Amino acid sequence: MTTPLLEVRDLTVRYPTSVLAVDRVSFTLAAGETLALVGGSGSGKSSIAAAVLMLRRPEAGSVRFEGRELTALDERALRRLRPALQPVFQDPYGSLSPRLRAHDAIAEPLRVQGRWDPLTGPARVRELLDLVRLDPGLARRRPYELSGGQCQRVGIARALACEPRLLVLDEPVSALDPSVRAGIVNLLNELRDELGLGQLFIGHDLALIRHVAHRVAVLRHGRIIETGPAGQVWAAPADPYTRELLAAGDLLARVVQ
Ligand SMILES: Nc1ncnc2c1ncn2[C@@H]1O[C@H](COP(=O)(O)OP(=O)(O)OP(=O)(O)O)[C@@H](O)[C@H]1O
Ligand SMILES: [Mg+2]
Repeated sequence: MTTPLLEVRDLTVRYPTSVLAVDRVSFTLAAGETLALVGGSGSGKSSIAAAVLMLRRPEAGSVRFEGRELTALDERALRRLRPALQPVFQDPYGSLSPRLRAHDAIAEPLRVQGRWDPLTGPARVRELLDLVRLDPGLARRRPYELSGGQCQRVGIARALACEPRLLVLDEPVSALDPSVRAGIVNLLNELRDELGLGQLFIGHDLALIRHVAHRVAVLRHGRIIETGPAGQVWAAPADPYTRELLAAGDLLARVVQ
């Protein structure tokens, strides 16, 4: 069997206030695959994202990325590996520096990693703009001169600048106007297929998740209560809580329409 891109075993996250946010969660993710984490507010989704990215070391459990145990690495070794695991967060404005023009925001990760070459750098930025389907004419704009959707595309281009193999997407479209969500989600699907990225996709909007995810894990109180191929979980949810989530999603979709 080939090594999965990401293998999480018995992950446990506890905060100093002794909140057990994630309770022995296990899942795997292959290259080119999207796994969605869904669940109500406070169910532990962002805590899993932070632990996978090693932004917060888990209390217990194992996080293997391409077969390497991340929890065993020191900060220096982690720093070398971080470009391969990139986050995209919910708030497209908040995750970009207000001073930086789109071009510089995309160049920044390359500069920080010492990979900026003044000869080839600008072409690389244009290539990244193209990859996220942003008009090169927008490259000189600052975040407040861009729409939410355009900002999120800059955020995705920044993540891609590092040539990651895994994207951890924590509600990447939740803060966006519903009219632009599908465009970003389609872009993420295309990038996954074009670049063979693995995606851990955290979300609330179950209709969108059905459109992106191959597999789904449903979280409640820090535990995975149901997991399976997205189509199967949607067609025949085994757990009453999943049925509740789906019913609430349908209701919301009808209200919004
Ligand atoms: N830094 C923190 N310190 C203490 N408790 C925290 C911290 N971050 C999260 N928690 C708690 O851990 C639990 C899980 O939170 P988490 O943010 O992972 O949930 P979530 O599923 O991402 O929720 P949401 O959908 O609202 O983003 C909650 O009880 C939350 O209050
Ligand atoms: Mg969250």
